Amino acid sequence: MALTTRDLTPRIGSEIITDIDTLLGGGEAQAIRDILEQRGVVVFRDLDIDDAQQVAIARTLGECVEGEGEDGIYKITFDEKVNARAKYLQGSMFWHVDGSLQPYPNLAALLRPVSLAATGGDTEFCNTYAAYDDLPEEDKRAIADLRAIHSAESSQYYVRPEMSYEEICFWQQSPTKSCPIVWTHRSGRKSLVLGASADYVEGVSVEESRALLAKLRDWATQPQYVYRHKWRMGDLVIWSNTGTMHRVLPYAADSGRLMHRTILAGEEPLH
Ligand code: OGA
Ligand code: MN
Repeated sequence: MALTTRDLTPRIGSEIITDIDTLLGGGEAQAIRDILEQRGVVVFRDLDIDDAQQVAIARTLGECVEGEGEDGIYKITFDEKVNARAKYLQGSMFWHVDGSLQPYPNLAALLRPVSLAATGGDTEFCNTYAAYDDLPEEDKRAIADLRAIHSAESSQYYVRPEMSYEEICFWQQSPTKSCPIVWTHRSGRKSLVLGASADYVEGVSVEESRALLAKLRDWATQPQYVYRHKWRMGDLVIWSNTGTMHRVLPYAADSGRLMHRTILAGEEPLH
């Protein structure tokens, strides 16, 4: 079965209608990668795959990052009994790019619900290529050479605004990273690199940094660039981590929400 696609919004998100065997066979993998790059997010409904199939599908699309979770599956939850890093994962409620601190941010992530919350827990994605493309020319010029320092500490302030000295020291052990605000990809296309890990803009005052980062985030997360996914059991969602930001809408830690994530290794450096 070939692929049938349906746009979920004009600027971001496509549903792909296909079957498990087509995905496992890998014959459409390049086509899926192309749709992912163009549309930012792809959604498969009623696929009902298991962990092994999720990893096998991921392997047709790129190189799976081992070392995160077990057998290519990482458990996304706010429940500390299920994942000891659940507190850290609460940072995912704020717009972010996964792995922005790494030299090669992940290419993409595959996410599938194992158990859903009765309320909350939709996931939103915004298209940072489209947001860049639509910026007024003078804004493009103003940010062309700007860089932001990203840190784990910055993301944590969103979760814990009044961190203790010990907590701050702990998060400051992770090295910070300078990233361009405008990412020029190998394709020549440009996207915005923002999110909760973006601490401040280099060479700019604290006030100007905060204002500029908020202004750009507000711009990039306007409704026309956002797709909101309402999860159903059986779904598989893949997002391009190099051309989108995402966040999960709040849900209770004891809601039972559990998602299984597989990530694809980055193929383009962000430096
Ligand atoms: C992630 C993430 C969002 C969600 O897995 O990187 O941000 O919906 N997850 O749980
Ligand atoms: Mn994330």
